[in-house]
Amino acid sequence: MNIKIAPSILASDFSKVGAEVARLEASGADLIHCDVMDGNFVPPITFGAQMVLAIRPHTRLPLDCHLMVLHPETHIEDFAKAGADIITVHAEACDVPALFQKIASFGVKKSAVVNPETDVEALFPAVDAGADMLLLMSVHPGWGGQKFLPETLKKIEKLRSYCVNRGRPDLDLEVDGGITEANVKDVIAAGANVIVAGSTVFRAADMAATIGRLRG
Ligand code: DX5
Ligand code: ZN
Repeated sequence: MNIKIAPSILASDFSKVGAEVARLEASGADLIHCDVMDGNFVPPITFGAQMVLAIRPHTRLPLDCHLMVLHPETHIEDFAKAGADIITVHAEACDVPALFQKIASFGVKKSAVVNPETDVEALFPAVDAGADMLLLMSVHPGWGGQKFLPETLKKIEKLRSYCVNRGRPDLDLEVDGGITEANVKDVIAAGANVIVAGSTVFRAADMAATIGRLRG
């Protein structure tokens, strides 16, 4: 499968996010991962749709918006209008098939995610509701720079085989949190093809080389 790298701007320098996004594009990133946190679904607050609007002119790459928020249904329109290309909602926070209808009504791609403590089966209805992507958290959401939870690998395998069985063998499966050059091979071997990386990409001495190596 085509491996895509989605660096998270959570690890970028917020005093110059537009330039950081342009640097990611020039370094070979495939998507820009935007970690939206509301201080309720997860303890920290990061940024909202206004940030998406601000970075939109700085890149042609798809903006992959991961909404770690309660009541995501109240924010879909704002993110769509700000220029989101993919919106990912948490199965813990909403009725995913209903949200997918709303996301699709704005012409935006739809994706769903589960936290480490949520069974992967919670994403199965999303496959059948026409997901364009699915995400598995490999750390507890809220902070960058955490350690990858190895039990995620089994969830990736289970989700990929469900997709195959449901006639969606090529569905994009994204994994988010703690991914490094050392563990990315296991993540891809388990069946993921979209790799989120915050710290690994932004701490790199050579961003382009690191993105290239993450792709394998
Ligand atoms: C965690 C976020 C992740 C995280 C990735 O809540 O969803 O996207 O910031 O950062 P690293 O790669 O540093 O774990
Ligand atoms: Zn994320």
